[in-house]
Amino acid sequence: MATSIQLRQLVKAYGDLEVIHSIDLDIDPGEFTVFVGPSGCGKSTLLRMIAGLEPITGGDLLIDSQRMNDVPAARRGIAMVFQSYALYPHMNVYQNLAFGLETAKTPKAEIQARVQRAAEILQIVPLLQRKPKQLSGGQRQRVAIGRAIVREPKIFLFDEPLSNLDAELRVQMRVEIAKLHNDLGNTMIYVTHDQVEAMTMADKIVVLRLGVIEQAGAPLELYNNPKNLFVAGFIGSPKMNFLTATEDGAGLKVAGATLNLPRAVAGATTLGIRPEHITLTQGSGIKIADLRVDLVENLGGQTVVYATTSDGQSVNIVLEGQAPVDLGSTVTAYADPARLHLFNANGDAI
Ligand SMILES: Nc1ncnc2c1ncn2[C@@H]1O[C@H](COP(=O)(O)OP(=O)(O)OP(=O)(O)O)[C@@H](O)[C@H]1O
Ligand SMILES: [Mg+2]
Repeated sequence: MATSIQLRQLVKAYGDLEVIHSIDLDIDPGEFTVFVGPSGCGKSTLLRMIAGLEPITGGDLLIDSQRMNDVPAARRGIAMVFQSYALYPHMNVYQNLAFGLETAKTPKAEIQARVQRAAEILQIVPLLQRKPKQLSGGQRQRVAIGRAIVREPKIFLFDEPLSNLDAELRVQMRVEIAKLHNDLGNTMIYVTHDQVEAMTMADKIVVLRLGVIEQAGAPLELYNNPKNLFVAGFIGSPKMNFLTATEDGAGLKVAGATLNLPRAVAGATTLGIRPEHITLTQGSGIKIADLRVDLVENLGGQTVVYATTSDGQSVNIVLEGQAPVDLGSTVTAYADPARLHLFNANGDAI
């Protein structure tokens, strides 16, 4: 019932400038796929190419195995929700939801039924008679999503739909979009800059950089096994720590001391450790480095420690609970060797 999407060597160029470089991607029916990546990496361009809002320069876009490159946007069965919801200000919520269906000459009874169903799903039935200016940001965004739902698309595309909302509303809407996906079961692609949204909503995260896919996989697969430095640094918040490593006859050296690693590490030049995987007591871990504590943030549930190695490299640590760490003191960082990431000079994980 749900729809698959395949990108085959997909290319986008604006004149001489190629911005999407031969991308291959399989999206399974019903999958919730999240695109992440730095500004300008091509997330919106890719969505717009899938939606039919932007011509495809090369390669194939397949939807349910059918080539869609030359099919007009309106006939692709796709609805897109944008960051700016652009509701019609002079129309009330009902009219905003009904408008697209009216232009498509959908019978009136059918329009009423679809608007009512979408309004119930999004819990905006009491707002149907209001004008957009009488709505909160979150309510407006729900109407924008409602406009997509009434079209009964096969595929939903979301381009940073929550980025204009405040933190609390974002969390609420994030849960609602996740529920919407569970209820409808449609294939959805979602672009975000928000780590938590990506990690919690995605079946599959696609990390893009400069118009290529760096890695695609389940959120925890990317978190646990990033393929390279870029993905390691991009997925996870706060960011993974990277320390310069050198090899000598005795093994891998970081900040002047040799690590007691259980495996061979030929070619490693960078050691990566996530802030949440560092402890200040040894437990079953190995010693990483002695650190000077520069700043301590007590968040109540967590303590964030900003520290520096003897050779001036920054290390951030996230400790559970209210850890007694003194500013200016020296602490020793330990980590479970299984939680360490090693990278070679090319930035690839080894
Ligand atoms: N109409 C256009 N003409 C020329 N270049 C364009 C055009 N639209 C986008 N680009 C370029 O294509 C690249 C990808 O842009 P895109 O908007 O897809 O990035 P993005 O990943 O969505 O970024 P952001 O996170 O800032 O929204 C950028 O380098 C951008 O400058
Ligand atoms: Mg964008």
